[in-house]
Amino acid sequence: MDIQTIKLRYGIIGNDPKLLLAINKAIQVAPTDLSILITGESGVGKDIFSRIIHENSLRKHAKQGRGLISVNCGAIPEGTIESELFGHVKGAFTGAEKNRKGYFEEADGGTIFLDEIGELPLSMQVKLLRVLENGEIIPVGSSTALKINVRIVAATNVDLVAAVRGGRFREDLYYRLQQISIYIPPLRERKDDIPLLFRKFSSDVAEKYHMPPIVLTDDGRQYLMNYPWYGNVRELKNVTEQISVVETARTINRDILQNYLNYVPEEKMPALFSPAAAGGNAPISDRELLLKALSMGQMISEMRNEINELRQAVTQLAQGLPLGGTPVVPARTAGQPSAYPIIEPSMMPGRTTDQPVDNTLHVIPPHQTIDQPEEEFQESEMVEDEPLALDEREKRAIRLALERHGGKRTLAAKDLHISERTLYRKIKEYGIN
Ligand SMILES: Nc1ncnc2c1ncn2[C@@H]1O[C@H](COP(=O)(O)OP(=O)(O)OP(=O)(O)O)[C@@H](O)[C@H]1O
Ligand SMILES: [Mg+2]
Repeated sequence: MDIQTIKLRYGIIGNDPKLLLAINKAIQVAPTDLSILITGESGVGKDIFSRIIHENSLRKHAKQGRGLISVNCGAIPEGTIESELFGHVKGAFTGAEKNRKGYFEEADGGTIFLDEIGELPLSMQVKLLRVLENGEIIPVGSSTALKINVRIVAATNVDLVAAVRGGRFREDLYYRLQQISIYIPPLRERKDDIPLLFRKFSSDVAEKYHMPPIVLTDDGRQYLMNYPWYGNVRELKNVTEQISVVETARTINRDILQNYLNYVPEEKMPALFSPAAAGGNAPISDRELLLKALSMGQMISEMRNEINELRQAVTQLAQGLPLGGTPVVPARTAGQPSAYPIIEPSMMPGRTTDQPVDNTLHVIPPHQTIDQPEEEFQESEMVEDEPLALDEREKRAIRLALERHGGKRTLAAKDLHISERTLYRKIKEYGIN
């Protein structure tokens, strides 16, 4: 199969020579049994490559097993990872009521995709190495080894060489996994592909929602091409979809784009947020979380100010006072989006979207809340004039991401650019429900 056919079949956009090289390599190695390590930043398209490799191998027709089994090594809690991967026998531990097959056994005859392999705890790395070398697994609690025939494709967005140097990843496992490595370059190193991807995503949204696609002005195109895209293609896709749906304009210039792209150049970051302050080589994901938290914090503080303005206005109205010149929220012309963001009750702190909404305007005395328990507002008033502490911002960013994705941790973690396990840990640490 040639590169063009693969691009069409998997919806891959881009002509960058390094991307084409990666696709070509995937096609070449697909029919072999060699272990493949796919590397590249978050959002560059590693998942697509795991499918290309499996679906262009003979294992695609595996009779046993389920073909391609994808396992996110970062999402499984450390305590259960061994039994998830290798299975367990009845009575192996409390709650093990019957024998259970692990992912390796499920994938027998096929391919196992070990995503976020860099997150695999060291204790499991030893066991995985043994499996790769002997082709045998031992279910937890069993004394009998099972022969399995599984091809390994692993992926990581962390620098495994640095992890090996730092003692976080076993060198022997690293070499065993990357018999072949496929590197997918970040989007900022294939700038010419950016307008092509933008066009593809905007026409996809246009088709889905029956609307004209958005197009870029010259300065808009330049801006997108020079943007660093730390979230890579995933970020570009999200941003293009958002703009397509939210903006009424169909021609998108630099000014509009700036409202959607919140990357803060390093020199403008407060010292605390700079990667240098975080030790110089903080993983990109943590930096991204901090940046997102920063912009979330700003958004929340803006919302809070507007809620306070509204509250003041309502109080003035209740006391029969004039509103002092300009209206707080300009009237909305029918069918026109408001010039001001309208604060819906669902956007208020502590509100979830599926709670019933009371639309009546409550006239309330100062220091009480609109339809909210008192202590929730007190919390926001306490921090009114102080910048939010870092962990507080992080907590809020996590809460908002979980809310946005209806509690789905996988999606919230993706949104925050952290691994699911990190999210899991932080949820526990902060006691988030
Ligand atoms: N070249 C491309 N053309 C079209 N879509 C792409 C391309 N590369 C990636 N995408 C899309 O971008 C999104 C992110 O890709 P993917 O999930 O494969 O990233 P990833 O490298 O696995 O990221 P992570 O490390 O966070 O898991 C997906 O929706 C994918 O379809
Ligand atoms: Mg992935």
